[in-house]
Amino acid sequence: MASHIDFDERYKTGNTPWEINRPDLSLIDFVKETPVPPCRAIDIGCGTGNNVLWLAQQNFQATGYDLSPLAIKSARKKAAVARVNCSFVNTDFLLDEIADNSFDFAFDRGCFHHILDHDRRLAFAQKVGRILSRDGIWLSLIGNTDETRQGPGPPRLSASQISTAVEPYFQIISIKSHHFDFDHEGIPAMNWVCQMKKRSIQQ
Ligand SMILES: C[S@@+](CC[C@H](N)C(=O)[O-])C[C@H]1O[C@@H](n2cnc3c(N)ncnc32)[C@H](O)[C@@H]1O
Repeated sequence: MASHIDFDERYKTGNTPWEINRPDLSLIDFVKETPVPPCRAIDIGCGTGNNVLWLAQQNFQATGYDLSPLAIKSARKKAAVARVNCSFVNTDFLLDEIADNSFDFAFDRGCFHHILDHDRRLAFAQKVGRILSRDGIWLSLIGNTDETRQGPGPPRLSASQISTAVEPYFQIISIKSHHFDFDHEGIPAMNWVCQMKKRSIQQ
């Protein structure tokens, strides 16, 4: 399922306001505070790979998926320059045949929220659940409908839109109103920091 946004065009023209060229602090905090031991990790919609590189540097076996060839090219270049051992796959996460139980930790920063249709969000959550091992964890950073900022920004979901999509497959450990890590001037976009654990029995 291709996105409604031409992400490759966004990377080509540099119209990538989400780009911070470093890992998101919410990921760092989560991995260090929870703590999540190094394991097989997937970053879904990894963009130019900032979070994949950081996970690999923390000894995770890290793989990034992104449908934009330009983003993946840039991610591979960053990994080569930094001499970081990680993998990137240029494909649509929803269409790629990923084996069950391939990962123990899933992360996405601004990918899940691009799915505007409830049934597709359910399919996304189901797939994340399927590729995770027993008790696998998903940390998702999602645009927040409580945003009061005017102007362009990420897509926004309500807590109930998130929970109705993920709860058949995941137990929500916590969902906190926060903001995307941000390097530009102005007010950062609000988000949800949603921590989930795979259900052993689907609801
Ligand atoms: C808002 S950007 C965030 C990129 C990156 N996570 C970051 O924080 O810099 C969303 C990314 O998700 C990717 N994406 C959207 N839908 C996808 C899908 N179905 N499969 C793989 N990647 C997808 C886009 O190409 C884009 O790079």
